Amino acid sequence: MSQRIDFIVSPGGRLQGQARVPGDKSISHRAIMLGAIAEGTTRVQGFLEAEDALATLAAFRRMGVRIDGPDGGRVTVHGVGMGGLQAPDGPLYLGNSGTSMRLLCGLLAGQPFDSVLTGDESLSRRPMRRVTEPLERMGAKIDTTPDGTAPLHIHGGRRLHGIHYDMPVASAQVKSALLLAGLYAEGETCVAEPAPTRDHTERMLQGLGYEVRRAGNRICLHGGGRLTAADLDVPADISSAAFFLVGASIAPGSELVLEHVGINPTRTGVIDILRLMGAKIEVYNPRMVGGEPVADLRVVSRPLKGVHIPEKLVPLAIDEFPVLFVAAACAEGETVLTGAAELRVKESDRIQSMADGLRILGIDARPTADGMIVRGGRIGSGRVRSHGDHRIAMAFAIAALRAEGPIEIEDCANVNTSFPGFADLAARLGLGVEVVSHD
Ligand code: S3P
Repeated sequence: MSQRIDFIVSPGGRLQGQARVPGDKSISHRAIMLGAIAEGTTRVQGFLEAEDALATLAAFRRMGVRIDGPDGGRVTVHGVGMGGLQAPDGPLYLGNSGTSMRLLCGLLAGQPFDSVLTGDESLSRRPMRRVTEPLERMGAKIDTTPDGTAPLHIHGGRRLHGIHYDMPVASAQVKSALLLAGLYAEGETCVAEPAPTRDHTERMLQGLGYEVRRAGNRICLHGGGRLTAADLDVPADISSAAFFLVGASIAPGSELVLEHVGINPTRTGVIDILRLMGAKIEVYNPRMVGGEPVADLRVVSRPLKGVHIPEKLVPLAIDEFPVLFVAAACAEGETVLTGAAELRVKESDRIQSMADGLRILGIDARPTADGMIVRGGRIGSGRVRSHGDHRIAMAFAIAALRAEGPIEIEDCANVNTSFPGFADLAARLGLGVEVVSHD
């Protein structure tokens, strides 16, 4: 990313119209990974053509998998089977993508060849021991830096054996990494989660014919099976839709329809939290698409009130807090978030990044070790930093709908990691966003 991009967003306005936001990032990664090790040809539609998912796609090409596309969200993965991946000819660079790195770490731990995973500055700061430690208990050998960060050197040719692992954090990436390693392990691999997390890996494995058992909070599979290719339809990403759910809620006179949004119950915390705050969001036309529930969402502006966010909703809305803090800034009274320390180790420290920006805009936002207390108020004007984090950039763009003057957001190129076309779509729906490029 050589070019620096800023957003300048004019104050006020409302959101109106109908849109389909880009494909789900989590499901797009998994479609490539599981399609690659399946037998047969997997045709994917709705694939997210954004940097993170493209990093996964490029990594599998480097391991000898033929992948056609992407073209208008269509990708064809010519699966090589469980044992068909080839040694890459050098380190696999995964950009900003934590999902690529952690899931690949699990998948590659059981391969006959060595591999090295690298990432950008932000990804190279993120904790990787949460995956490498349990994988080593399965028999893997993975070198990290002394801080437990990337580059990861994964030694090939190790015999893995299944383990029963109680995850200390509610993380779908850790769960998925262990299940992917478990495909290559002897015996049974079981992961217990302290709270439900997104279950796209389990659903897609089952959709491709692999037996995955769930008993209470425990998810188990036996190694040594095979995956059979199938067609996959990726729903629109609720994490991208979330910006518009909040935007249309806070901007008086708004009414939006968001189409074909994934409403997997492990992802809909943002709807529940916004409804607790008084938002009006209708979920209609529910249907199943490729093993994932999908619906259309209609949102109409409503005055919001502050709430204490129930901790059980935190993992179900984990990526949506940047924009939920904006909703809190527009709500009457205080919103209290606790039990969300994980936000400190995302693409940026999302508690600090959001608190800093909100304070610049005149909002009383008090960061705590595991959350934030936000008192609703008047959003002023100012220049805030994205900290290179796509969701921080988009959250502050949405805040302008209720600001008293323009909001300038520095360093927004990273929006392309999850939501290419955000500025154009937001402008079409009514946000006064201008993109300024610096060479
Ligand atoms: C993801 C899991 C979550 C989420 C990330 C995508 C996934 O991370 O924040 O954006 O696709 O499995 P954690 O597992 O670290 O909570």
